[in-house]
Amino acid sequence: GAPEAPAELGGSPKRGRWAPPTLPTEPALYDGPFPFYRRPAEEGRFSLDAQRCYHPDARQLRYFAPPRAERPEPAFDLRHGYRDLYVRRDEGRREGLEHLLQWVAGNRDRLRAQGDAAGRPVNADFVTWRGHLTKVLTTPYESQEGWLLAVSLFRGTLYVSEVETPAARQQREQRSDMLQELAYMGYKFERYMCADTPDGSPDPTGVVNTNEAFCTVVRTRLGSHSLLFAGEVDCADPRGAWPEPPACYVELKTCKELHSPAQRRSFYRYKLIKWWAQSFLPGVSRIVAGFRAPDGSVATLETFETMKIFQLIRGDRGCWKPAVCMNFCEAFLAFLKKVVTEDDPQLVHLFAWEPGRPVSYSRHQGAEHVFLPAWYVETMSG
Ligand code: A3P
Ligand code: MG
Ligand code: MG
Repeated sequence: GAPEAPAELGGSPKRGRWAPPTLPTEPALYDGPFPFYRRPAEEGRFSLDAQRCYHPDARQLRYFAPPRAERPEPAFDLRHGYRDLYVRRDEGRREGLEHLLQWVAGNRDRLRAQGDAAGRPVNADFVTWRGHLTKVLTTPYESQEGWLLAVSLFRGTLYVSEVETPAARQQREQRSDMLQELAYMGYKFERYMCADTPDGSPDPTGVVNTNEAFCTVVRTRLGSHSLLFAGEVDCADPRGAWPEPPACYVELKTCKELHSPAQRRSFYRYKLIKWWAQSFLPGVSRIVAGFRAPDGSVATLETFETMKIFQLIRGDRGCWKPAVCMNFCEAFLAFLKKVVTEDDPQLVHLFAWEPGRPVSYSRHQGAEHVFLPAWYVETMSG
């Protein structure tokens, strides 16, 4: 089992006044055996089209279609089309859990029929985005970016939705042209690696539209916490060793070319942790990386099997540990259950974390932070 991480550790009574408990994040507190994590099972799928409209199907799923060699010839040109073949999603529109809740509402009869001892409409302790959990997993090792997570308990299930921090917002709004092109290149890499049909070939000449997404909804369990979460998936490999979803999914990534053992070690320490957490959570079995040169060309590919990543980092003392990430996540979810006990979709607890500090929270009643939409509350109350 997981080490006990007493939530009270960071909280201290000040002059006799009750101080809300906090949750410490130091890796050493969570170093222990890997906790129970049930093999994720795909529960559903949905797509967002070029206009960002929701569809309860897999129409946006693309298929892994890599070049024959590990060194694509000619090299991919990830900068191609940045000026004229790029349709960007409006990141200023905060979507919250919207599309995931649409999926839940659309599947409410089936979710209810699954039966829940507690009589809940959704048979899960937590509903959230995979990306939010990725941030929780990497927290013990993160030194740059904090996070804000809003939590409401509604009919027995805790909903977790990210709130953009002021720092993240400022970064997003002031992103340099160079960083924007870098983001484009990540999507362009997908165009070179994916086809629209299982037997098709990539067509990298088309428009990159970041409104489009295919998402998998998975069910799993971490320790005593049952989880239902959705995550965006880059493609499926119709010819892979694991044909069933979610193991058939492949995560695509780009990264600066590595030229020295020191650069590779730093990549393992600071970047691979995020790649691992993102793919391990939903049971995506493979990550295929394209290493790009300064001119935006990709001439080298490398495959990482998600379940073998821990072997790559094991020899490096001072590197991150998967068990620490998972034990911290388990403790964080237990912390949420302990703090958020009033079943009320209008009540929001904001959990805040900044590097170097413990996780703290504040309580908000009233409109400002409410994130479960009225239509959802109504649908799930019937
Ligand atoms: P990389 O994968 O090369 O980083 P994902 O890999 O999660 O499927 O995301 C696809 C691409 O979206 C990323 O490519 C990156 O270019 C862009 N992206 C993802 N998260 C981002 C973020 N927080 N800020 C800027 N760009 C991001
Ligand atoms: Mg993606
Ligand atoms: Mg990707």
